[in-house]
Amino acid sequence: MKASQLEMEKFAARTQKSKAALENGKKFIPLGVTSNFRYYPPHPIFVHHASGGRFWDLDGNEYLDHNLCFGVLMAGHAHQEILRAVTQQLEKGTMYGMPYELEQKFAEELCRRFPIDRVRFANSGTEATMHAIRVARGFTGRDKIIKFEGCYHGVHDSVLISYKPPVEQAGDLRNPNMVKASQGIPDGTAINTVPCTFNDLEALEIAFRKNRGEVAAVILEPIPMNIGVCMPEEGYLQAVQRMCKENGALFIMDEVKTGVKLARGGACEYFNVKPDLICLAKAIGGGFPMAAFGGRKEVMEVLDLGIVFHAGTYNSNTVGVAAGYAMLTKVLTDDVYPRLHKLNQILIDGYNDILKKEGLKGYAVGAGVNGTVQFAPRVVKNYRDWLEVDEEMWKVWWYGMLNRGIMTQAYAWDEQWTVCVAHTEADMEQHLAGFREVVPLLHQAQG
Ligand SMILES: Cc1ncc(COP(=O)(O)O)c(C=O)c1O
Repeated sequence: MKASQLEMEKFAARTQKSKAALENGKKFIPLGVTSNFRYYPPHPIFVHHASGGRFWDLDGNEYLDHNLCFGVLMAGHAHQEILRAVTQQLEKGTMYGMPYELEQKFAEELCRRFPIDRVRFANSGTEATMHAIRVARGFTGRDKIIKFEGCYHGVHDSVLISYKPPVEQAGDLRNPNMVKASQGIPDGTAINTVPCTFNDLEALEIAFRKNRGEVAAVILEPIPMNIGVCMPEEGYLQAVQRMCKENGALFIMDEVKTGVKLARGGACEYFNVKPDLICLAKAIGGGFPMAAFGGRKEVMEVLDLGIVFHAGTYNSNTVGVAAGYAMLTKVLTDDVYPRLHKLNQILIDGYNDILKKEGLKGYAVGAGVNGTVQFAPRVVKNYRDWLEVDEEMWKVWWYGMLNRGIMTQAYAWDEQWTVCVAHTEADMEQHLAGFREVVPLLHQAQG
């Protein structure tokens, strides 16, 4: 029996109540989960409760949590400052559907952190990228967008293209085929999304050349974090920005995952790049639904002028704004970043030392508060490289670590871990001690 199968069986035996809960849920909910990403075999863990950097499942097992809701919870679970802000707000009203002052303060704080002049709110990363793309289309009067294989920008039709295309359909690396990631996306929408290869300026040049005068925007994740952690090459983001300008297209940086996590001002600050539009979600809400898109004044002006329409009943809902404002001003204070970056580096260095010493395939990579182990034969620079990740080794690692009380990251080898403010050096040591126990299984998997 494969090592991963053994670990999966051990996992199944210690999470019987989650299995039963999934079976019950399937009666009312397709697949038993309300987002496809939440399902994994043999059954997902059902959470009983969570606090700080840990959670507990229905069977009473405790886990060190590095999934942290797909990277949302840089504050950890149920942070006291955020709970206080939300509780105070709840007493003043849960929802207004009318403007109020706190939303302005929140907007001002985002404009202080990021190189943007104006920001509008939404409720999810999907909405943020959808609106940013519409703004770009309205501003430029063009329809097409260029997006990168392996990058994920949510579930709306324009971006659910070439997300994880099967390699036999993906076509030429320099000039990839457009591959829909789901049934139900109209051809008329899909033809306006041009796929491209990350970290390859020639591929971008070809995409612009083939669609001359038609591209409204290039959208990308500054560090593609839906293929693990894929670092952009030195100067790549600046070159993309320059090429957008030369071609009359806007540069949209999807900072849903990097946002306030990579640095105070996200990837804009970390890489010193100033895109035309940015998209934010996840961490900016401190654990509550909150998203935003923003940009320079001339671009966002299409909303002032009514050229582009943006609306939403729940936009800048009071709870999300209270939580988000507390997150930015009370939790993610300047002193937090060096401490968390240090914790993340302990993990990255610790993994790399062990992998090297043991002669195991793969490497640890990370930035800000995120990282992962890419069980790949070479450094992953784009989606096609990521396809070489050894799934068996990854599964041995992920289930093996779960069985030792450590949720290293959300399920699948395209995710990454997050370090939160509740984590300590002792937690990082516990994490690495768990990994040392898994090493013999990885040797078995590597063969
Ligand atoms: C980079 C990126 N953009 C957008 C989204 C979509 O965000 P949401 O799930 O809040 O719609 C995600 C979700 O993981 C993401 O990783």
